[in-house]
Amino acid sequence: TFVVTENCIRCKYTDCVEVCPVDCFHEGPNFLVIDPEECIDCTLCEPECPANAIFAETDLPPDQIHFVELNAELARSWPVISESREPLAEAAQWDGIQDKMGLLLR
Ligand code: SF4
Ligand code: F3S
Repeated sequence: TFVVTENCIRCKYTDCVEVCPVDCFHEGPNFLVIDPEECIDCTLCEPECPANAIFAETDLPPDQIHFVELNAELARSWPVISESREPLAEAAQWDGIQDKMGLLLR
């Protein structure tokens, strides 16, 4: 399974959703998640993210491991997104900012 991590928060570039063959991305107000029950490990999304926010579960940085459960949880309540849209307005400013977890909108 692939996992969307913290750097997506307040960026949400959405390039990732265009390439997913099984439409397993789900969208919240300022973050996306991958449904672990749908992801087929095709690897296509990982290089598409301008914010480098997508990792294979097995390659997650240690401080991002809690995003495994968060992706699973939020995928159950957020709607599927299968076409990219404009990034959030301040995406470039927020790319690379640490500790954005408190800014996550549900
Ligand atoms: Fe979709 Fe493939 Fe990325 Fe899984 S690895 S989320 S199937 S694009
Ligand atoms: Fe987020 Fe990267 Fe996709 S910023 S929306 S995981 S392209």
